[in-house]
Amino acid sequence: SFVRETENVGFMEAIQMLASEAGMVMPERDPQAQEKSDKRAILFEVMEKAVRFFRMSLGTSAGAQARAYLEKRGLDPNTLNRFEIGFAPNDNAALRTALEGQGVTLEQLIETGMSATSDDGRPPYDRFRNRIMFPIRDGRGRCIAFGGRAMDPNARAKYLNSPETILFDKGRNLYNLGPARAAVGKDHSLIVAEGYMDVIALSQGGFEGAVAPLGTAVTEDQLHLMWRIAPEPIIALDGDKAGIRAAHRVIDLALPHLRSGQALRFAMMPAGQDPDDLLRSGGAEAVKQVLEAAQPMVQLMWAREIEGQTFDSPERKAALDKRLFEKTSQIQDAVLRGHYEAALKDLKWQHFRARPKGAPWSPKARVPVQSTTKASELVAADENVTNYIRESVLLAVLIQTPPLLNEFADQLFMLDLETPELDQMLRVMRNMGDETTTTIRSEISRLMGAEPLEKLMRSRHVSITPCLRVPDNIEMARMTVQEELAKIGSNKGLEVELNEAISEQDRIIDDTILWRLGQAADAKNRASRSDNEDRAQYDLGDNGARINREEREKLDALLSKINYGKKGIS
Ligand code: UTP
Ligand code: MN
Repeated sequence: SFVRETENVGFMEAIQMLASEAGMVMPERDPQAQEKSDKRAILFEVMEKAVRFFRMSLGTSAGAQARAYLEKRGLDPNTLNRFEIGFAPNDNAALRTALEGQGVTLEQLIETGMSATSDDGRPPYDRFRNRIMFPIRDGRGRCIAFGGRAMDPNARAKYLNSPETILFDKGRNLYNLGPARAAVGKDHSLIVAEGYMDVIALSQGGFEGAVAPLGTAVTEDQLHLMWRIAPEPIIALDGDKAGIRAAHRVIDLALPHLRSGQALRFAMMPAGQDPDDLLRSGGAEAVKQVLEAAQPMVQLMWAREIEGQTFDSPERKAALDKRLFEKTSQIQDAVLRGHYEAALKDLKWQHFRARPKGAPWSPKARVPVQSTTKASELVAADENVTNYIRESVLLAVLIQTPPLLNEFADQLFMLDLETPELDQMLRVMRNMGDETTTTIRSEISRLMGAEPLEKLMRSRHVSITPCLRVPDNIEMARMTVQEELAKIGSNKGLEVELNEAISEQDRIIDDTILWRLGQAADAKNRASRSDNEDRAQYDLGDNGARINREEREKLDALLSKINYGKKGIS
């Protein structure tokens, strides 16, 4: 019955009838909103008339130069039609005269931004003159603005865009949004280029899911528009400094909004080329390769922070950690943030650790001793194992005594753990100082799976840690944490110095490095002295002590070689 009764009424009236049948009182529609929407409907029609006028002008004799320009740029007739490309004649009143002849008022022309008035009393003039015209349509296909490209290289502005009007909000639309969305629905990638011509060229080259911002930098609203279409748009940028800067702007904008299904990739074009240029120089195949090589955002974040810098001191490494942490902290989604931190940790790992080729480091994997093995490598390898053990004990104690997570927050924050697994575990725990041991354990297991935590707790060194056997003794736990943090710190310092010495391998070791090695060794000796004292005190048996003696012997051997040889470590 509803259908029959509503056959002759509008949509709003039908809703009203339904509502009153259900006993609901519908608010009156805001008369001002109605007026605005009616006005927009009329202005959309004005814009369609302008599209037709510019299309028509391209076909006239006045448009001959424009046609030649477009042909020179490689646009085929099919593309011109699809993008409704037109031409604005070189005349102050061509559009106005034509549209007024079709009943359009001057006020409407001004409201759509197609005509402009000058302050000095001269008559209104057409905003776009002697330009190639690109209609800009919203997601529903309505023409909301134009972009106009000058053909004359000396023109005041290469591109002129419609001003913001009641139809056009630059930051909330994208060029080619509708067709790109349809293409993505047919399995095309969503590609974000910089300009109109890139979008058009990409589309003609078979990459139909291309969009571009509208004469401004990408906005947050535009990111959300993109993510409604595709979970991982590819930002295509010039491979030059400006392109990379633009990428970093987009990264900063995107960070707080990232979550699963809202990511970005970055495809860097060869330096000095935009997608349009690359299509012309290398064809679709070249573009395809660049798009396929698009990097995830985390890669660019990493490259940005290490670019042109050396990290030759623990302080500089710590500063790097801090900068990366500042970036990842902006990621609101906790699970995703954890993954970013782990990925950055892996990149750092690859960057800083000089590991023997083909032998991914694991706590159990020792460097096989060969005649060519550097003493420093041996020491460094054992440093890793020792730190791994200390870090495992540290984490176990912290899990057992959550308040210490708050107490040592600063030091824990700067800590750079030996394996990505331990590191991720610490990151999960970091903000859980107010939780219970049970909650922390289940959170670790939830995010990392059960295995890492079980492995940690099973480890012999953890199982014999005294304070873990007396869980309520916070004082003892605190001392253990302090102790382990101090030792991890001094071992890291030594490791950094040794790595540095290795990298200098073929040079004569100068006095500065010797001095620094000596300093690091002193710190290390102090730490292992108190280490031996603890072990004795805790009565841990000979296992830990034996490792330390070995370490020290290797270190002594290394240092004596440097002292006497003075020709580098080899
Ligand atoms: P580009 O200068 O990179 O031009 O501007 P393009 O897209 O490669 O265009 P062609 O190949 O020279 O024709 C990129 C975008 O920046 C905006 C436009 O949206 C343009 O598409 N822009 C550029 C302007 O709004 N005004 C300008 O004067 C220049
Ligand atoms: Mn270009």
